[in-house]
Amino acid sequence: MSIKLNTRFAEGFVKDHELEYIKPLARSAFEMIKSGVGQGNDFLGWLYLPHQYDREEFARIKLTAEKIKKSCDILVVIGIGGSYLGARAAIEFIKSPLYNDLNTDTPDIYFAGNTISAAALTELLTICDGKDICVNVISKSGTTTEPAIAFRVFRELLVKKYGVDGARERIFVTTDKACGTLKQFSDESGYETFIVPDNVGGRFSVLTAVGLLPIAAAGIDIDAMMQGASDAVKEMTRTNDLDKNDALKYAALRNILYRKGKTMEILVGYEPFQTMFNEWWKQLYGESEGKDQKGIYPSSVIFSTDLHSLGQYIQDGPRNLFETVLDIKDTGVEFEIPNDPANVDGLNFLSGKDLNEVNKAAMLGTLFAHVDGGVPNLIVEISDRTAYSFGELVYFFELACAVSGYLLGVNPFDQPGVEAYKKNMFALLGKAGYEKEPNAKL
Ligand code: PA5
Repeated sequence: MSIKLNTRFAEGFVKDHELEYIKPLARSAFEMIKSGVGQGNDFLGWLYLPHQYDREEFARIKLTAEKIKKSCDILVVIGIGGSYLGARAAIEFIKSPLYNDLNTDTPDIYFAGNTISAAALTELLTICDGKDICVNVISKSGTTTEPAIAFRVFRELLVKKYGVDGARERIFVTTDKACGTLKQFSDESGYETFIVPDNVGGRFSVLTAVGLLPIAAAGIDIDAMMQGASDAVKEMTRTNDLDKNDALKYAALRNILYRKGKTMEILVGYEPFQTMFNEWWKQLYGESEGKDQKGIYPSSVIFSTDLHSLGQYIQDGPRNLFETVLDIKDTGVEFEIPNDPANVDGLNFLSGKDLNEVNKAAMLGTLFAHVDGGVPNLIVEISDRTAYSFGELVYFFELACAVSGYLLGVNPFDQPGVEAYKKNMFALLGKAGYEKEPNAKL
């Protein structure tokens, strides 16, 4: 295992008896998940997924990824929420032109259908102009408005460019195995389809075809990613002993902190390539926990960038927050700071040092400062940013999220609140059946 929870910077904030009190509760939340007796138990497909995934489909994902690599300059991935965040997080976290020898013959990957912005859609269409394009549209329900609009636009573009038969070779659909408009339309049109398993919710679906097809098309080793996740399943479902299970311990500690009024958690990274991972994490925790007027508000920052914006608030503002730092031990890139014989900027105390060393000093300095300022810090240590480690990391946060939800007393697998805006929007736009929404005519 390359993942480890370091609690050194939270110790002063959590008393021994608090940890003792939470232990049986965390054990019981964990056992509820394993035995499938809790609320939302029809959405536990992610729990053993890294052991039990559909090997035939997995092979087809790899073949399709090769086909995409050969036939296009740009892959447009259309989806919103859990239908795009995981793939985008993985690609940005793992892949970098400077880091390791990932295939360079991969298409540029752009994401669409995650906003209703005319500007964003127009910009992407301009980027696609004159390029060979493939599309992977992803929607579990097959009815979500944002990706449906983008798919309509890109489908039309592909049909114009390649004809109906040519477009069919370039459109790949990831959706429910049987239900929804998208499934029906794909079958009628003869598009190749991949399945979002019934028992896996959108925000837990990065290790299904939802995430794996775009990730593989980006040239990332999805075998290694599944291996990392599979090793994490073994390690993290082995024992319900909090002291030997870091996922369980993370869930328990954040619950203790929440009970003490720490109602906001900030996921902290020191690498810009972590930005979309933070977004994936925020959706996972926000949509799983924020219900019944309860839940930790998930927020995120990239330091040291945000030390020059939100740093002041974290150091000195209301004390209702805690941080969870993702400490990536090896970023795979070194950079030596040059020497200047004239030392005009006074920086020669850094000459010859690796920039990573300076970044780590910023991290340690910030940890001490924030703890001094009354902000507990948990640290999730991960050895590197490989596909294997990413798989582990995903599973760690998914399992901890499910345990956290049960500890909080909510169903971590539904998202009833997401519907409210849609009803009003449809009423405002005159969609049949939505005319009577109460607030729509304000
Ligand atoms: O996690 C979730 O369930 C949601 O964020 C969904 O992924 C999101 O709403 C998109 O839904 P769909 O895949 O049905 O288009």
